[in-house]
Amino acid sequence: MQKTVRVHDIRKIHKSNNMNSIFKVFVRILCLCICFWCIFLYQKGIIIRFRTSSIAGEIMEYTSGKYNYNVSVSKFDGVTETRIVLNKMMEENNKTVISPHDYKYLINEETICASNPFMLVFIHTAPKNNIRRNMIRKTWGSVRSIKDYRIELIFLLGVALNRSTNDDIVQESKQYHDIIQENFIESYRNLTLKGIMGLKWTIDFCPHATFILKTDDDVFVNIYPLFDYLLKINKDETGRHNLLGFIRPPQPPARKSNLNTATKEEYARDMYPPFCNGLAFIYSMSAVKAIYKASLYEPFFWIDDVFITGVLAEKAGVKHTQLKHKYPSYLLTSSDVTLNTLKGDKDRYLFVLIHDLQRFPSRMDDFWKILRLNTTVDGQ
Ligand SMILES: *[C@@H]1O[C@H](CO)[C@@H](O)[C@H](O)[C@H]1NC(C)=O
Ligand SMILES: *[C@@H]1O[C@H](CO)[C@@H](O)[C@H](O)[C@H]1NC(C)=O
Ligand SMILES: *[C@@H]1O[C@H](CO)[C@@H](O)[C@H](O)[C@H]1NC(C)=O
Ligand SMILES: *[C@@H]1O[C@H](CO)[C@@H](O)[C@H](O)[C@H]1NC(C)=O
Ligand SMILES: *[C@@H]1O[C@H](CO)[C@@H](O)[C@H](O)[C@H]1NC(C)=O
Repeated sequence: MQKTVRVHDIRKIHKSNNMNSIFKVFVRILCLCICFWCIFLYQKGIIIRFRTSSIAGEIMEYTSGKYNYNVSVSKFDGVTETRIVLNKMMEENNKTVISPHDYKYLINEETICASNPFMLVFIHTAPKNNIRRNMIRKTWGSVRSIKDYRIELIFLLGVALNRSTNDDIVQESKQYHDIIQENFIESYRNLTLKGIMGLKWTIDFCPHATFILKTDDDVFVNIYPLFDYLLKINKDETGRHNLLGFIRPPQPPARKSNLNTATKEEYARDMYPPFCNGLAFIYSMSAVKAIYKASLYEPFFWIDDVFITGVLAEKAGVKHTQLKHKYPSYLLTSSDVTLNTLKGDKDRYLFVLIHDLQRFPSRMDDFWKILRLNTTVDGQ
């Protein structure tokens, strides 16, 4: 009886000794690992120094190169644990990236610009607007080259909340290969994301275009006279580092109920800077790069034309150039009147907003029938 008890005790002691030494070995290995890790981080310049008297629970911020880390030290049962969390990205110029455009492409066409186009057109469109996209594909958007200068065209989309609409998009993309979709939710309040998406895509996949036209899916673009205009500008360098559009003078934000109301929290200043009317404007490539870069350091503001062509352009030092064309360069009125005017004077308008597409679903076609054949490329 006594014997067994003793054996049992010895086993117990043995077992706990065993546990103890396993634990010790484990802690040593852990310490070694942490040491090696610290040396590694130190060499990478991520850890610059630790305060010797770190207080448990305190968060310290360290900046090294492009990165800013939060380092927190916690003490638990005499063991000091150090956590290093990437806090924010810094740029070389010490500015903090506060608005990274880090959405994922759900649909992408990486080789569209393999042809090195002179002009890239990107069109803001909503997933459900497939009829409008088809109209554009059939009419002005079908032009792929003028005088040996290439034109490429893409449609920019977010994600529709309607599942079947999204499925349709996938099919449409397989057919036409001109859709780019990112994983933010499609909504009026997310249009700025779409605009920035266009800039990022251009930089990543179309960096050699000379001009980039941003327009909407309800705008008719009078592509031949527009092209003449751009070729002229390209020759004499006017506006090559600018944003070309219809410039709106500084104006106060709408603060009361209105489709484009901006609260003080959303936009604090009393005036908008000058900006381009969002229905159609043209970037030079250098403007695309500068404005995209500026977008990383600015808090998001949802009214896209004000933000991108106003606030960001100002920050980026991008100047505006008024698109000078026959009076008026673009048109907000409709459709019958415009149609008749264009019959008499085919390059009178560069852009027509067809806001009554509901009533005249074939209006793009009507315009195109008049304008396609009989426009001389030099406008003579
Ligand atoms: C880093 O610490 C600051 C306070 O010092 C805090 O505001 C911020 O949220 C922390 N960031 C992360 C990623 O924990
Ligand atoms: C960035 O800031 C750190 C100190 O905060 C300074 O030592 C460094 O020179 C700055 N770098 C630039 C490029 O301004
Ligand atoms: C989704 O879109 C389809 C047409 O594309 C429509 O028939 C359906 O009612 C929509 N569903 C919802 C929930 O809006
Ligand atoms: C987009 O808009 C919707 C509704 O306006 C909103 O819920 C969502 O958070 C926005 N942002 C993204 C990244 O989807
Ligand atoms: C343009 O129209 C005129 C008559 O309106 C016609 O004489 C001319 O050949 C046409 N030009 C082209 C390029 O189709």
